[in-house]
Amino acid sequence: MRVHVLGSAAGGGFPQWNCNCPNCAAYRQGSPYHLARTQSSITVSADDSNWVLFNASPEILQQIRSFPALQPARQLRDTAIRAIFLMDAQIDHTTGLYMLREHRQPLELWCHALVRDDLVRGNPVLKVLEHYCGIHWHSVPLDQRNFCIDGAPGLLFTALPLLSNAPPYSPHRDQPQPGDNVGVTITDAASGKQLFYAPGLGTMEPHVWAAMQAADCVLVDGTLWTDDEMIALGASQKTSRSMGHLPQSGPGGMLEWLNRLPTTTRKVLIHINNTNPILDATSPQRQELTRRGIEVAFDGMEITL
Ligand code: MLT
Ligand code: MN
Ligand code: ZN
Repeated sequence: MRVHVLGSAAGGGFPQWNCNCPNCAAYRQGSPYHLARTQSSITVSADDSNWVLFNASPEILQQIRSFPALQPARQLRDTAIRAIFLMDAQIDHTTGLYMLREHRQPLELWCHALVRDDLVRGNPVLKVLEHYCGIHWHSVPLDQRNFCIDGAPGLLFTALPLLSNAPPYSPHRDQPQPGDNVGVTITDAASGKQLFYAPGLGTMEPHVWAAMQAADCVLVDGTLWTDDEMIALGASQKTSRSMGHLPQSGPGGMLEWLNRLPTTTRKVLIHINNTNPILDATSPQRQELTRRGIEVAFDGMEITL
């Protein structure tokens, strides 16, 4: 299976339009050590011609342009995106749906019922799309069972609930319910190789840890380095954990967990916030990742499993 990272940043992207934190400022000053990143999305295929899109980022048009495999040009109006899978209902993962409105048939949309509810009520993008292509909704099962996605041959999917946070426009903000956020294991049916993808992971629950241990590659939440990173910068009052993102450093942080995985597991951080020091390729934090064998996803990164 081929995994293509379309976007590797958290909400806001990098640099963020209104931000002058050390990373955003360094980027604008032309630093060669800071790569611009669009908001998080990946696409996966087992046959190089049919792709499942995970999340629809606000930069989706730019992301599609930068990855020609998504436009095979077999007819006047065409796409290789066979289905869209949403991990949550957040703005950074759903705004791109508006940009796909010219589709010639309803979009094949996979998400949990709670995500669908938020996208019909709090942020009614799915209602708006009814005036354009419409959507054909598929409910994502959370019972650990494998499922297939029509049009994506050779791939098997398993979704699992993650404790993270629901968007501010959700009735479950700060009271997350199973299904508000999901992680997914994608298995290549031919090779049996597995990718575990979870861009928003707030708490390491036993079923999540089991899925990570079973995977050949984990592509997981890399939002913030420290729990109080945004507070220390004066950028926000929110901690990483309150936003539903496990910080990387410190006790119980993501690095400790990744350290316990076999050395053969490929470990990649994604959904990286613009304030995170790991975006500076020369930072001590980035060097610590390198020492630990942990990669930082970048736009255009390819993972073959
Ligand atoms: C998050 O992952 O916490 C959200 O996407 C943040 C945002 O988009 O504002
Ligand atoms: Mn996000
Ligand atoms: Zn910034």
